[in-house]
Amino acid sequence: MLAVIGGSGLSQLANLDVSHREVLRTPYGEPSGAVTFGQIFGHPIAFLARHGYGHTIPPHEVNYRANIWALSKCGAVGIISVASVGSIRADLKPGDVVIPHQIIDYTWGRKSTFHEGLDCTLTHIDFTEPYDRILREQLITAARAAGIPVSNSSVYAATQGPRLETAAEINRYERDGADVVGMTGMPEAALARELAVPYAAISVVANYAAGRADSLTGISFESIQGVLHESMGNVRTIIEKMVGCGNQTRP
Ligand code: HPA
Repeated sequence: MLAVIGGSGLSQLANLDVSHREVLRTPYGEPSGAVTFGQIFGHPIAFLARHGYGHTIPPHEVNYRANIWALSKCGAVGIISVASVGSIRADLKPGDVVIPHQIIDYTWGRKSTFHEGLDCTLTHIDFTEPYDRILREQLITAARAAGIPVSNSSVYAATQGPRLETAAEINRYERDGADVVGMTGMPEAALARELAVPYAAISVVANYAAGRADSLTGISFESIQGVLHESMGNVRTIIEKMVGCGNQTRP
């Protein structure tokens, strides 16, 4: 079963034929909400809204551990993480869809590992490639098949939020090699790796990042909402195409 974590602009999957919802308890506390189980074209899918179904949980307060643990526990063989991002690069415009290949983590103070406590064995996961290569390829192939252009090599800068960045911070992230910036990509990806659940991200560019293009002097929240509403349709189509190709499971 493939699991999808929906972010801003994606609090449900339109073509999901819902069978039931389940509130899962975890040793790490409560997930963001009930997990919705159902099928798309006959293939099982689990869906979880990262910010809660009423979009009330800010990025720094999401219980990433509970979310990932719950999805792993209910049998997810892959997790697709959907999120909105700001674009640092001039050629990535609002509305574009990005499948990042690398992460730089600027978050702090988040519960970012399952390996803690005195009786825990010391573990260092390999995170050279933070996203699962096969899941990424499946997403890229599905996008191509659906005729939706995607950027498939972008470095995702994970920031703490909930405030947006300063122009100088964005300049720094660009010097560091980042292409897009978002607030929820970490520690989600690392936690999935810790539980050995393949994980890939698909992001919609909601706006130019602070200080760039039409965000030179500020970012309008209203324009972000409008862009997300339109472009999440493309994300849904890509996920449905991927699932429809029978790509929801791994050997
Ligand atoms: N910065 C951080 N996160 C975001 C942005 C941004 O500009 N846009 C959407 N999510």
